[in-house]
Amino acid sequence: LAPKDLLGLRLLVSAGPTREYLDPVRFLSNPSSGRMGYAVAEAARDRGAEVVLVSGPTSLPDPWGVEVVRVESALEMREALLERYGWAEAVVMAAAVADYRPAETLKDKEPKAEAEKLLRLVPNPDILKELGEGKGGRVLVGFAMETAEGLERAREKLRRKNLDLIVLNWVNREGVGFGSPENEVVLLLRDGRVLELPRMTKRRVADRILDWVREFWKA
Ligand code: C5P
Repeated sequence: LAPKDLLGLRLLVSAGPTREYLDPVRFLSNPSSGRMGYAVAEAARDRGAEVVLVSGPTSLPDPWGVEVVRVESALEMREALLERYGWAEAVVMAAAVADYRPAETLKDKEPKAEAEKLLRLVPNPDILKELGEGKGGRVLVGFAMETAEGLERAREKLRRKNLDLIVLNWVNREGVGFGSPENEVVLLLRDGRVLELPRMTKRRVADRILDWVREFWKA
């Protein structure tokens, strides 16, 4: 039985990919399964937190005891998060938000010959950076996907987005990351500490992240 050490914490979690529609049947997306964010939501629920999960399209069932808000695009995800940001005391932003969206979404399915016209892209807003700008006393956790040289880039994101903790996922490693039940991550704390965790289930990674959320929340 989990200790109820997050009793009363109002936690907002995002998870999964976003879909950026070119036309009614085509979209840009990524292979995020949503598992890491769902694991955070479930672990926090078990530890007594009140949890709202804003989820992009995933094949995972809604976790019991968690309010689930389903969205598709980055703009919808932004709306859903901003709407609940006032309520939240902590945010764990595990969603893999698409960096770009089509400049326009066509109402009808486009003939193949017109395909190149479809791929004019515009950048999506950086949701987490925006949350960081209005942070107040909240605890903010982000994720970063990097290849071997990514420690410095992750540290830079932690600062730029005004986070308390960033969870660094290694890309290109066997058996971890996108879609897998296990993960191997490094936690970078706002005070400069770097904690390398061994490979473990996403649920255990979630609990380690929440230990730090609790630490910052109580401080
Ligand atoms: O894409 P990047 O590596 O900057 O992502 C780092 C963090 O920022 C992640 O937690 C991700 O969910 C968040 N992010 C966001 N909005 C974006 C891109 C990333 O909130 N448009």
